[in-house]
Amino acid sequence: MKKRILVTGGTGYIGSHTVVELQNSGYDVVIVDNLSNSSADVVDNIEKVSGVRPAFEKLDCLDFEGMDKLFTKYPGIKGIIHFAASKAVGESVQKPLLYYRNNLLSLVNLLELMPKHGVEGIIFSSSCTVYGQPDILPVTEEAPIKKAESPYGNTKQINEEIIRDTVASGAPIHAIMLRYFNPIGAHPTALIGELPNGVPQNLLPYVTQTAIGIREKLSVFGDDYDTPDGSCIRDYIYVVDLAKAHVIAMDRILENKQKEKVEVFNIGTGKGVSVLELIRTFEKATGVKLNYQIVGRRAGDIEKVWANPDFANKELGWKAEANLEDTLRSAWNWQLKLRERNIQ
Ligand code: UFG
Repeated sequence: MKKRILVTGGTGYIGSHTVVELQNSGYDVVIVDNLSNSSADVVDNIEKVSGVRPAFEKLDCLDFEGMDKLFTKYPGIKGIIHFAASKAVGESVQKPLLYYRNNLLSLVNLLELMPKHGVEGIIFSSSCTVYGQPDILPVTEEAPIKKAESPYGNTKQINEEIIRDTVASGAPIHAIMLRYFNPIGAHPTALIGELPNGVPQNLLPYVTQTAIGIREKLSVFGDDYDTPDGSCIRDYIYVVDLAKAHVIAMDRILENKQKEKVEVFNIGTGKGVSVLELIRTFEKATGVKLNYQIVGRRAGDIEKVWANPDFANKELGWKAEANLEDTLRSAWNWQLKLRERNIQ
């Protein structure tokens, strides 16, 4: 029988790609999503990609009773992949309590319900944001956790601690925390991808929306950083590679391959790419010229960060496969497809 997995936030950007990879690997997937930042037709598109329709419930993880009932309605859930969270850094500064409520209490609810319903493991979406500006690059999982720059970042740090404390208390739970670097790109079918709400805050959706003419000009935030070309450096990871890391992590938990009950992995490529390099590579990959200007630095930006993914490479047997050009082309194809569908 197929093992059943609950994916919270499964109609979102990373969630939808992960659902497809789970299905491709033979898992039976149940999605819960409150649709605050996605829409139900993503479920149709997941079905088109994988050939299998996942179960879907519109539900908020904050709803403890509702979640309790969900585990009864879908018995035998073995693992949870917990994506559902608020994720806009700027908004979190304006509305900290919304972020603390949504992001912390959702996790607390799940951790409380897991033992009751015999759920063995949880994979938590963490972020390289927990490292702040690392002193040593590339950054390893042992690097110190720096004080968070935003309430959003703080929720990632606190949630990691909540998981550690819960497991240390003897709860019969296993966990893997994946610290994502910068996820970009879309599924090769262009049926699922990133659909930002309003004006994009992240670089790549802004790039593709500018390239297609929705935005007039991309602003590059700063060219006076201590980097080779002066613009910030990040580790851009293809979302499908990232999705696959979740499947491997879930297999690892359910096949009892973990070395510790709580493990943490960097999920990145190991390569740092500057904003200006990314723009040039996008232009080369797509043949589309990008209108951009250099403006001042964005408050709170990290100068440079990229992963040391050795631990994930060795222990998980996972490696980022895609190259940047193909990844950028996938993001562009997705943007073209959105225009075809009259969405953006
Ligand atoms: N950038 C621009 N112009 C834009 C948008 C972004 O130049 O219009 C630059 C940023 O200054 C940064 C790089 O592109 O140098 C990447 O910016 P993103 O906003 O795409 O990503 P961040 O690295 O700032 O943010 C990501 C995640 C957050 C997470 C954060 C931790 O989106 O969820 O990493 O550092 F908290």
